Amino acid sequence: MPIKLVTTVAEFRDESARLLREKKGSSQGLVPTMGALHSGHAALARTAVAQNDVVAASIFVNPLQFGEAADLDRYPRTLDADLALLDSEGVHVAFAPSVDEVYPGGQPLVRVTSGPLGNRWEGASRPGHFDGALTVVAKLLHYGLPGSAHDGGRAAYRAYFGQKDAQQLALVRRMVTDLSFPVDIVAVPTVRDEDGLALSSRNRFLSADQRDAALVLSRALRLLESRANANEPLDLDSAVALVASQPLVALDYFDVVDPLTLEPLAENCRETPFRGEALALIAAKVGPVRLIDNVPLSS
Ligand code: PAF
Repeated sequence: MPIKLVTTVAEFRDESARLLREKKGSSQGLVPTMGALHSGHAALARTAVAQNDVVAASIFVNPLQFGEAADLDRYPRTLDADLALLDSEGVHVAFAPSVDEVYPGGQPLVRVTSGPLGNRWEGASRPGHFDGALTVVAKLLHYGLPGSAHDGGRAAYRAYFGQKDAQQLALVRRMVTDLSFPVDIVAVPTVRDEDGLALSSRNRFLSADQRDAALVLSRALRLLESRANANEPLDLDSAVALVASQPLVALDYFDVVDPLTLEPLAENCRETPFRGEALALIAAKVGPVRLIDNVPLSS
């Protein structure tokens, strides 16, 4: 059955409930997106379809999480291609609301606050970004909440987020735990091009030279990963130096952090062999394009 496009919250709820009944289903998945979909989103959709009877994806460019109006205007809108990708992955419902549908009273007065975890790393250079992202994720999770499954019980409810946006993922997990949302958050590994570049809707803004230069991010992360795998000291300084050797790349941050709290751990594993679980986070500007990437470290 081809994907069904809906634009109102009422239609989204009705269509999801109808499909759950029709399929006698017991699980519902939601893949929140801002459109401009690529293979990374396809992986989210594929995972959701494999794990749930009914799957919806939202496509909504959320004004609340953009700092400058120009960035919001520049954000690519590719609805037809997005629907084709979601359809090919077997997603049942695409929810593409207008700004008025999501924020009928204009900008919301009350918002989710991301707290100290939202103010560091990406939050330090994008003030208010995570409050805006969490506020819309909270709304989307509520819209997608399944009613009763066919047997009268509540259907399982899962929402899918990319590991690529590690800080967003950590914050969504905290919001769901701290505010008791009845949903399981599923993290899906980062999808990369063959040469290692993490997929992002921003990659389309890189020139060929900038794209080549951007490969240093994943190379530096892989360096840390191989040291962690070998139980060696991570030697973050030499990985930072590798990035600094690329003149088209302006490093913002590069650190090794706790995967849940995103507190820095690098001091502890600079000279001693790496043990445990961590996340290496990196962000840089390549020309005008801000890129982020990360890799889980485990030993
Ligand atoms: O990761 C994104 O695409 C967005 O931040 C999200 C989660 C869809 C909220 O607008």
